[in-house]
Order: sequence, then C-alpha cells, then structure tokens
Amino acid sequence: MRYLKLVVALLFGLAVVQPFAFTRSVEGQAASEAPGTDMDQHTEDLYNNIIYPGEPDNFVHFKEAMEEFSAVEDVDGGIGPVFNAQSCRECHQNGDVGGPSQVREFRAGHLNGTTFVDAPGGSLINQRATAPEIVERVSTADPIHAPRISLNTLGDGFVECIADQTLRNNVAAQPAAVRGTLINVPLIEDGTATRVGRFGWKDQHGSLLSFSADAYLNEMGITTNFPATRAENTSNGNSVAAFDFVADPEDTDNTDVKLFADFMRGTRVPRTGSGSGSAANGTLIFDRIGCNQCHTRTFVTSPAGTVINGGTFTVPAALGSKIIHPFSDFALHDVGTGDGIVQNGGQGTRNQMRTPPLWAVRIRNELMHDGESKTLNDAILRHAGQATTIRNAYNALSSGEKADLINFLRTL
Ligand code: HEC
Ligand code: HEC
Repeated sequence: MRYLKLVVALLFGLAVVQPFAFTRSVEGQAASEAPGTDMDQHTEDLYNNIIYPGEPDNFVHFKEAMEEFSAVEDVDGGIGPVFNAQSCRECHQNGDVGGPSQVREFRAGHLNGTTFVDAPGGSLINQRATAPEIVERVSTADPIHAPRISLNTLGDGFVECIADQTLRNNVAAQPAAVRGTLINVPLIEDGTATRVGRFGWKDQHGSLLSFSADAYLNEMGITTNFPATRAENTSNGNSVAAFDFVADPEDTDNTDVKLFADFMRGTRVPRTGSGSGSAANGTLIFDRIGCNQCHTRTFVTSPAGTVINGGTFTVPAALGSKIIHPFSDFALHDVGTGDGIVQNGGQGTRNQMRTPPLWAVRIRNELMHDGESKTLNDAILRHAGQATTIRNAYNALSSGEKADLINFLRTL
C-alpha cells in the first residue's frame, strides 16, 4: 500500500518536474539546492545520498566511513610518534560528527628579513607524543606563534566540486579593494597536478583526499601511501625512528584516508536557517554594507560527471550542479589578522587568511583563525586591512541594525 502511494507520488512528481527539467537540460544542467543538515546529534540527517562507486550499500558505506573518521587510534595502529589527537572526530565534532571544535593546532617559525622560516622540522608543532623524550618544543629562535582553531567539514564535498574557474570568476568580479587571492596547491593524491586551494585557514589544500592524508600524518602521525605522506614527522627536526614501531606507510593501501574523504563527501551542507523578523532584515544589511563581497553567498557546483582533482575524482550526482551557500569566496585576504605563517601560497600569503565559510557559524562560540574572538561583534570589529571600509560601515549601523545582522549570522 505504501509502495503504491509512493509510485503514484513519484509519477506525479515526474509529470510536474519533467517539462522544467527538459527545458533546462537544453541550456545546461538544472541546478538544485544542496540538502542541509541541522547539525543536531539527535537527528540522523548527515547523509546526502551520494553513490560510492562499487559499494553494495551506500548508506552502510557512509556509516562505515563515519566510524573510521571517529575511530580512536593507538600505538599499534601507528599513532605518533608525534601527533595532536587520536581521531579525526576528537577535533571535528560540535553539533554533529564532522563539525568544528574548540581544539587548536599550533604553528611556529620566524622571520628572516621578509622571509618566513618554519620552525625546525616544519611550522606545525605537534602537541602530543608517544614518549616524553620526543615532545616538540618551541625555541626562542621561533617567536612567531600561531594557534589555529578547528574547522567544520560538513558539506565540504560540495566545496570540493566547485570548479577552479568558478572560484576565479568570482574573485575577478570582486571590487579591487577587497579582491581575494587564490592559490594553486599540489594534490597529494596526484603528485603532479595542482588545483585552486579552498580548504584550511590558508587555503593549503584543494581536495578532501589531500586534506585527509595531510591530517592523518600531521594530526595523528599516521603515514599513508602517497609520495608526500610516507615518512613520519620529526620531533623539532630530529628523527623519531627509535620510537616508531609500525612500518611506514601505516595506512598501507590508503583505505582509511579514502574513508575519511568518503565520509566528508557524503555529508550534507550546514543548513541555512530560515531567518524571519530581525534576521530577515540582517540578511539585507549583510549585502548592503558589503560583507557578501568576501563572504560569497552562493556557488553552483560542477555538473555530475566532471572529472576533477587531476583526473582522480568524478563529480557524483549527489554533489553535481548543486546550489550551496557557504558565505565564503575561499580566497585569501589581508584583513589585518594574518598569522605570519606561510604554507602552500608563497611568501606573499604570510599575512593573509582564507575567508572562512560562515555556514555552521551558528555552532561556533570561538571565532577567527585563532579562536580569540568570543562574540560575533568582536569578530567583525577585528576586520581591518581589506575589510576596513566595510567594517566602518558596520560601525555606522544603528544598534538595532547591528543586532539584526548578528541575528542573521546566528541562522547560518
Ligand atoms: C588535533 C585536532 C585535529 C585532528 C585530530 C584533525 N583535525 Fe582536521 N582540522 C583541524 C584544524 C585545527 C583545522 C584547521 C587547520 C588549518 O587550516 O590550519 C582542520 C581542518 C580540516 C579540514 C579543512 C576544512 C575546511 O573546510 O577548510 C579538513 C577537511 C579536515 N580538517 C579533515 C580532517 C580529517 C579527515 C582528520 C582525521 C584524519 C582530521 N581533520 C583530524 C584539527 C584537527
Ligand atoms: C575583505 C574580505 C572580508 C570582508 C569584506 C568581510 N570579511 Fe569576514 N572574514 C574575512 C576573513 C579573511 C576572515 C578570517 C580572519 C581570521 O580568521 O583571521 C573573516 C572572518 C569572519 C568571521 C569569523 C568566522 C569564523 O568562523 O571564525 C565572521 C563572523 C565574519 N567574518 C563576518 C563578517 C561580516 C558580518 C562582514 C561585514 C561587516 C565581513 N565579515 C566582511 C574576510 C572578510
């Protein structure tokens, strides 16, 4: 009975949708809104219906991928010798699994003239180790200290499927005074191709598999089978081989990192709340004073079937031609908060930070790359540099208008 109803509903739905879909398919593929999650642990609504090639049951695979993202590793599993935490979930779980958290990483280095130089062994200072002898410490020679707070990963599969050219066109259309910088970054899974960076506070990665392999090594000390991630990190530049008891690469055939990417690619986007009253006024103010010039409201992902990431990934139907509202241009800007660290973007990016997506900001209570702004008002007031004129426009709002703008941000 239920089945029959479903068939009738489906046929009816098809009849309504068909002429529209047909018209659009002549011009190009019809784009539709990406499904949203409420980021509430009590509701099981993370899965976006992605189909994983070769998997007999897609939802079961999604749940397995989420389990691997949540799995706590120990020394037998290859954790360390230097690391930051024991699972992806330890740092990515606020609201739902995959969300952001209060956990910070720590980077350090120094300036040689105008050139940033990493602390010995790399700017990332791992905060844990499997033995006291190899705990990483910062020396007085590296006075640049940069904390970085964890980011939301929900909906990142859609971000991955935005074409490089779409991001470039968006930046090219920005007013010169606020225009962002996009950087091309290496793809760990490819080794030769590059892509427009869009993930991380410094746009240091362009794909979720790259970020997963990077995070497995740098956050958890687990090596994977890509040329760039086969060797353990050092402790302040000194080998940790005497403390490493599992042969590298530890994730021998990259099974785990593929599961991390599968999980993130399988998640829905943080839902944009339906603002009414004050928030509905706030959304207008957001655009009127120019916040949207960097915090880009809307992108459309590449059509299903588009081959990306140096030929290693094909945009699946669940992620293709989707309208998303990340409120980010995914570009780097100098808004006066730069942390002085250089990663994949060259020396010119030392004091630039990526515009953080504002979707999921409703689950954050510590803001900006260092987590040092405790209110939305404080975060806005910290905007300077390229955002000075727009911050001044915020300052010039009435207190009622400011409240409206902030109420709007709380719906994202
Ligand atoms: C110790 C805490 C910690 C652990 C463990 C951790 N992360 Fe992260 N993650 C972070 C922080 C902090 C950032 C922001 C780093 C930056 O940009 O400098 C981040 C950023 C990310 C991003 C970029 C999100 C975006 O939209 O820009 C992805 C993707 C990600 N992590 C995936 C993972 C995966 C997969 C794992 C497990 C292998 C993992 N992380 C483990 C702290 C952590
Ligand atoms: C010139 C580009 C630019 C403009 C204009 C701009 N922002 Fe930002 N915004 C950024 C960048 C870059 C950051 C990250 C800075 C950092 O972490 O050091 C940021 C951070 C934020 C954050 C913190 C988000 C988080 O997750 O920590 C909020 C909230 C925010 N902006 C809101 C606004 C609002 C509201 C306006 C308009 C009044 C605005 N921004 C205008 C670039 C911009």
